[in-house]
Amino acid sequence: MLKKTALGLVVTVVLLGAAHLVAQERGRGRPGPRQPTGGGPGPSSIESSPIPKTEAEKRILSILEDMDQNQRRGMMNVPLEDGRLLRLLTETVGAKHVVEIGTSNGYSAIWFCLGLRATGGKLTTHEIDPHRASLARENFKRAGVDQIVTLVEGNAHEEVMKLNDSIDILFLDADKPGYLDYLNKLVPLVRPGGLILAHNMNRPAPDPRYIKAITTNPDLETIFLNMHAAGVGVTLKKR
Ligand SMILES: C[S@@+](CC[C@H](N)C(=O)[O-])C[C@H]1O[C@@H](n2cnc3c(N)ncnc32)[C@H](O)[C@@H]1O
Repeated sequence: MLKKTALGLVVTVVLLGAAHLVAQERGRGRPGPRQPTGGGPGPSSIESSPIPKTEAEKRILSILEDMDQNQRRGMMNVPLEDGRLLRLLTETVGAKHVVEIGTSNGYSAIWFCLGLRATGGKLTTHEIDPHRASLARENFKRAGVDQIVTLVEGNAHEEVMKLNDSIDILFLDADKPGYLDYLNKLVPLVRPGGLILAHNMNRPAPDPRYIKAITTNPDLETIFLNMHAAGVGVTLKKR
């Protein structure tokens, strides 16, 4: 009887230890089912972490993981699943030119770069805060993507007026009441079949004027993704 109880205890301890190790692996974002970031119920548990195909991709993913673990505080970065979405859309539309408003320390920008390396494209990203801009420059170098990024430092409401090149993807992630202004100024540069992505369509509460503009214009088709967390608006500029 005593032997059976002791054996039961040993089995329980071993099982608990194994469960703890699995939980640690998930937390580190290794391949395999993972926990979502950004709160809420999150995506399906069958999703795995990104699996690098090349050494360059491995380097970029390791910098992203480092930023995720060590630089998030005060940087207002998109959650991991939104970063993956940005990369996936970049490759899907074969984007040659992505324009981002709101660089912060470059986390979402580097997700775009993962896609842009494959499409042979480039990123123009805007940041008003000099400290965040300087961190972003460092991170672009560390990830080895600095050659495909132009970081424009200054007030994007003014700086975007200097853009002339056609845009395949426009990503809005800066001052929330400014989204409508960015949309009005840049939508003429977005190519037909291009996308306008907008972060924080769920929380913090988005500007209703922006929502109205992207959901009532017959030239645009909008869906909302990852609304269990911050939420991303995906708007197609129709052909
Ligand atoms: C939510 S954070 C961007 C996060 C970044 N996209 C990421 O996921 O890694 C918003 C950034 O926009 C910047 N910002 C706010 N107003 C701006 C403006 N008028 N022009 C340029 N950048 C601005 C802020 O300084 C801040 O770093």
